[in-house]
Amino acid sequence: MDFDFDTQLELRGTHCSKYDGIEKMFGVDGEGVIPMWVADMDFPAAPAIRAALQVELDRGYFGYFTNPTPVSQSVADWYQRRHGWSFDPEAVRYTHGVISGYADVLAAYSEPGDAVITFSPVYHAFFRKLRAMGRTALQCPLVERDGIFHMDLDMLSGMLTGNEKIMTLCSPHNPGGRIWSADELKAVADFCAAHDLILISDEIHMDLCFPGAKFTPIGIAAPEHMDRTVVLNAASKAFNIAGGETGLAIIPDEKMRRKLDAVMMDRESSPNRFAMMMIKAAFTECDDWIDAAREYLAENFRIFAERMSALPGVRVMDMQSTYLSWVDFTDLGMSDAELIKRLVTEAKVAPSPGTQFELGGTGHMRFNLALPRPTLLEAISRIERAFSDLQ
Ligand SMILES: Cc1ncc(COP(=O)(O)O)c(C=O)c1O
Repeated sequence: MDFDFDTQLELRGTHCSKYDGIEKMFGVDGEGVIPMWVADMDFPAAPAIRAALQVELDRGYFGYFTNPTPVSQSVADWYQRRHGWSFDPEAVRYTHGVISGYADVLAAYSEPGDAVITFSPVYHAFFRKLRAMGRTALQCPLVERDGIFHMDLDMLSGMLTGNEKIMTLCSPHNPGGRIWSADELKAVADFCAAHDLILISDEIHMDLCFPGAKFTPIGIAAPEHMDRTVVLNAASKAFNIAGGETGLAIIPDEKMRRKLDAVMMDRESSPNRFAMMMIKAAFTECDDWIDAAREYLAENFRIFAERMSALPGVRVMDMQSTYLSWVDFTDLGMSDAELIKRLVTEAKVAPSPGTQFELGGTGHMRFNLALPRPTLLEAISRIERAFSDLQ
């Protein structure tokens, strides 16, 4: 089936964070600005997901949801079919979103005052959440080599204080779209075992690998360490349904699961009926949609990288997955404020400031490329014009 990713949806005035949140985020009138920050796609959700919601709407019953096993089976089948990892569907729990699941995991396996490891720069909400819960971040800098990020576990060993309880792994990595190899993942899991750390693997971007690129779940790379591992995921990022809050946690180990269950029981957290319908549709009926989206996004990245890299002093990190491109402007010698002014005020293109991603983020910007091609091309042309004095 063909899907239309080229038509721009009108999203202003629809409570859309990416469009209607520009003014609050950047302090400028959002009218006319192309948003390249919040990680949503400007594409309509897959027809199968919309049809699943329509069934619910037509029935008109929106009551409490029970018996999640068929949904969990769809999650397990998808992981098995697309990524080769098998697990018992009973290992799946549902959260409001990945970050609310992250909060549950922090509550279950750490205490206020404990340290949580990240490889930075990394998705900013981890910091917001862990600090709000009284934990501290130990940020191990990612090392850029051969144009992509690498984790340096020797460096991390030298940074440990003994206070660390949890390792946060973003796999694939946001920003920069790095897919960690099975060997790299196993080394991280072995590190966690050697230092008695709980490993959280956030795999929310796994289905956004470019055609030909292979994602390895932590459950395949390090099955022997599942007694200390929680996988967080959601149908939200790949299937563009983030407002549906479709988070889930996979905890194969029963003892680990009991601890998380206790936290979730405390919160009276129960699945959202609409989210459950969307998860099931995404993971059973949307193979062709996601394959088409991955191709479209890979081509968007190819075009963006080629034209942005032609600007003097601008380097685009090579990317194998996600639609979140990491761009290095440090050679221009501009401050972060100057860069944002040029991009948002002059070019009228709004990326995520690199500083949000903390260590290693200054002088960088993260660009969301999940735009219809004509909008993306317009955004690139605007950036080229705003930086034309540097040519
Ligand atoms: C790595 C990562 N984890 C989690 C999230 C957010 O997930 P949720 O909206 O389900 O909390 C994002 C959103 O961009 C992300 O990039």
